[in-house]
Amino acid sequence: MADLSVDLGFRTLKSPLIAASGTFGYGEEFLPFFDLDILGGVIMKGIFREPRPGNPPPRLHETPAGLLNSIGLAGPGSEKLQESIRRLRARTPVPIIVNVCGEDDDEFVAVAETFSAMAEVAMLELNISCPNVRQGGACPAQDAGHTARLVGRVKERIRKPLIVKLSPNVGDIVGVALAAQDAGADALSLVNTFLGLAVDIDARRPVFANIYAGLSGPAIKPLALRLVREVCRKAYVPVIGIGGISSGRDVLEYILVGAAAVQIGTINFREPAAALRITNEIEAEMERLKIGNLSEIRGQLQT
Ligand code: FUM
Repeated sequence: MADLSVDLGFRTLKSPLIAASGTFGYGEEFLPFFDLDILGGVIMKGIFREPRPGNPPPRLHETPAGLLNSIGLAGPGSEKLQESIRRLRARTPVPIIVNVCGEDDDEFVAVAETFSAMAEVAMLELNISCPNVRQGGACPAQDAGHTARLVGRVKERIRKPLIVKLSPNVGDIVGVALAAQDAGADALSLVNTFLGLAVDIDARRPVFANIYAGLSGPAIKPLALRLVREVCRKAYVPVIGIGGISSGRDVLEYILVGAAAVQIGTINFREPAAALRITNEIEAEMERLKIGNLSEIRGQLQT
């Protein structure tokens, strides 16, 4: 039997598959589809202190091999999310990860502190890379100095492992990754969505009110794989690969370029039980390739 467990250094996960923030609701929505405990973790939709309405519709736009979103980090606020987390924990032991957001650095720190204090929460993911909050896609992850200051402040105030989620919309993702690592990130997750544009030719206007939106799905996989490889070559903390994963083979590609684990996102919208299928596919590929544990091939891409 293939052993799917992966070691992040600070914690072992039973599977490399983690459900990505913003594609898996608050976990409960997916309970009817499969046993969530097969996953390495589930990441909650990004959360601020107060409820947020998010961006005006339309918020989603399909492209031939991907999905543009401009949700604007809509959410119920920290108090309601704490209730959801307690309900989810009562139904499954899957590790729960909270995606922490903030309008400013003080809010990031406050939200991180709130969820760090919850016994039900395994880890935090700092969302410094959402492209849909400010027009033009600006976010803290576009600046290595800002990333370092913010990660340092958050780390000082929490007692849980901290994953920092990076943006692909930068000139030097390795520089930002190392800034986050040196400031205390326990792991890095990459990439968030690529900034894109959709045009309505009848209206002669952008489809989205915010003009640009975030592209995810199979279209971004080769781009994301390259960025994950580049960060893995320089960072010593574990990297969680994200971008267009929809099969077991895709997962092995990310592990070969150096990822310790992966997140599956857009596929969850199209196929709610995708994680179950992908788990079976990983096992089948591992058996076919005679891999006992994914650590045997992690970072083993031959060039
Ligand atoms: O617009 C959104 O809610 C997207 C969030 C993200 O990409 O982090």
